[in-house]
Order: sequence, then C-alpha cells, then structure tokens
Amino acid sequence: MNSSIEKILFTEEEIREKVKQTGKKISNDYRDKNLVLVGILKGSVIFMSDLMRAIDTDCKIAFLTAKSYGNSTVSSGKIELEDTLKDSLGEDIAGKDIILVEDILDTAATLYAVREKIKELNPSSIRICTFIERNIKRNINLIPDYKCFDIQDGFIVGYGMDYAQNYRNLPYVGILKPEIYTITN
Ligand code: PRP
Repeated sequence: MNSSIEKILFTEEEIREKVKQTGKKISNDYRDKNLVLVGILKGSVIFMSDLMRAIDTDCKIAFLTAKSYGNSTVSSGKIELEDTLKDSLGEDIAGKDIILVEDILDTAATLYAVREKIKELNPSSIRICTFIERNIKRNINLIPDYKCFDIQDGFIVGYGMDYAQNYRNLPYVGILKPEIYTITN
C-alpha cells in the first residue's frame, strides 16, 4: 500500500465487480439508443475506461474538462469548464443520449454546471453516472442515475482521484493520511 494512504476503502476486486454491474445496467437501459458517454476530466479517466469496456451496447465517447478543487481538499465552488466536447466526439451531441461520467459527486457543483452546459446543446436525454457519491447534506439537489459506491467522511484518492494531482494511478480507492494535506495546504 502507498505510504500516504491511511486505509483502503475499495479494493481492485470490489471496484471491478461494481463497475461490471453498472456497465450491465447501462447496457440494458441503452439498447437501440444513441449513447454517448461524456467523461469529465481528469478524475473520471480510469472509471471511464473501465466502464466503457463493461458496456456491451454501441456507444461513443467524448470528454470535457472541469476543475474546482485546485490543490485544495475543498471545492472552490467556482467551476472552470473547458469545452472539448465537439472536438472529442467529432460531431454534435444534439439528439444523442448522454451519460455524464464522473469519479466523485461531492458538493455536486461540477455536475450541475456541466449538465447545464450540455442542456444547451439539445441532447435527447442526460443522465449521470458517478463512481462514488459522498453522502452529505448539499445545497444542490442532484441525484445520480447510476453509481458504484457511497462514502461519508475522509479525503479519498486513487482510481483517478487526486490530491494536488498525485495518487490518480493507485488501482484502489484509499483515504489519504490527514498529515499529507495538513502539511501542504
Ligand atoms: C473533482 C472530481 C469532480 C468534482 C466533484 O474534480 O473529479 O469533477 O471534483 O466535486 P463536486 O461535486 O464538489 O463539484 P477536480 O476539480 O478536483 O478536478 P479533477 O477531475 O481534474 O481532479
């Protein structure tokens, strides 16, 4: 285990099983639809690549970049969006069935901003698939349509999730030792 990790929350095996189940649900729901998975970079990158391989109906992929945390452990609340949708998909998303793919739904500020932006592009439908939902009382009312895991407290990293851009490559999800971010914040 990485020395900055206090505890492993979800192992590679647990993750593999949940992602497989989620992919199966999406496959069943989207047969004969125009499915486009939209990954929100950078955190979703590992989940997106595993999820798309767990889906056995036709789908396309696209990406956009959203950031709000910078090098902090709390959201700045200000979402910076970089629109790479058209470039990454190579066509309009009007009329398509979109699933926004996210690593973690925390305050929901990111997904709310992204969903508002995508709505303007006239897709047929928009749903949300998050790898993890943090169960907190939030001001933004946004319920994911698909999710793999719930968490409560602790700053988590791994499986795409970072602290100051590190730890995204860990194949499991772990709680970061508090002294790592109390020293550097
Ligand atoms: C993280 C994560 C989600 C968002 C979730 O992104 O990847 O996009 O925060 O938090 P929220 O629900 O409170 O908005 P971050 O801004 O850290 O960028 P990253 O994806 O590049 O890590």
